[in-house]
Amino acid sequence: MTNLKGRNFLTLKDFTPQEIESLLDLAADLKQKKKQGVPVDVHRGKNVALIFEKTSTRTRCSFEVAAHDLGMGTTYLDPKSSQIGKKESIEDTARVLGSMFEGIEYRGFGQEIVEELAKYAGVPVWNGLTNEYHPTQMLADLLTIRENFGRLKGIKLAYLGDARYNMGNSYMIACAKMGMDFVACAPEKYFPSRELAEECQAYAKESGASITLTENVEEGVKGADVICTDVWVSMGEPDAVWEERIRDLTPYRVTADVMKHAGRDAIFLHCLPSFHDLKTEIGKEMGERFGLTEMEVTDEVFRCDRSRVFQEAENRMHTIKAVMLATLGE
Ligand code: CP
Ligand code: NVA
Repeated sequence: MTNLKGRNFLTLKDFTPQEIESLLDLAADLKQKKKQGVPVDVHRGKNVALIFEKTSTRTRCSFEVAAHDLGMGTTYLDPKSSQIGKKESIEDTARVLGSMFEGIEYRGFGQEIVEELAKYAGVPVWNGLTNEYHPTQMLADLLTIRENFGRLKGIKLAYLGDARYNMGNSYMIACAKMGMDFVACAPEKYFPSRELAEECQAYAKESGASITLTENVEEGVKGADVICTDVWVSMGEPDAVWEERIRDLTPYRVTADVMKHAGRDAIFLHCLPSFHDLKTEIGKEMGERFGLTEMEVTDEVFRCDRSRVFQEAENRMHTIKAVMLATLGE
């Protein structure tokens, strides 16, 4: 069984390929147990704190449902109602929460905040998304890929869009660790940082992975098994960047043509939420301002039979449960 007792889960950089694979095995087992109605409430009487300095649907619900399935209570701290950072330092918050809870989830801004929380909490801290990384999302994506292809090694994953933020960075790390072929398709200024790319090249050397950064969509997606993208403007970024992003990233939208150039059995992934139609406030506003009907992915691809976005979303819960179970001790 996976023994990660007492460990934090802050970025996949901190985990070996074997540890990542074993978390996926555990998640697959927990998924099966959930479907069969087999209880796993081995942490009855424990409690976890869920800090969200940015909004969430999937991550919050996954942590809450997974914690309840494990027998634990949850306390949700929303972006407005806690003292964190405003009246109380991260260090003091960590010491207080660490004395009451067996584990702490944090979603927020800089990675250094979740690192600081982990340094002083004395209990496992789980990164529910920072500007730089989204590691629990990666486990869900890797599980979805494994469910569809039966393996990770040698799978070619092409990410289109802003590749220097949490999703692009995290895909590059995950692929490099797991022996996959990672391609970032974006204008050069949206490539992951040179420093992170070099770090990932070192993982790739160990695992047999490859890393390609290209501006050419047709070349980048050629024969890919997985095509993925993310919103063009992330939470916490200023409204003012929309115009430039739309201009720069429209050529990197995932369209039916992109899927045609990918491998025959290629699947489409998106962490969600996604702007694939005008049924959201922001989508509608951007539609009116810029004359768009869809952004990073067309509605056609989002809904097509190669899209696995809802399987991926469900897998958030099973993989987050695995992270909590493994780090709290099975
Ligand atoms: N994918 C993801 O993290 O979704 P939420 O923002 O809804 O949690
Ligand atoms: N890059 C996105 C991911 C949302 C799950 C954001 O940070 O808003």
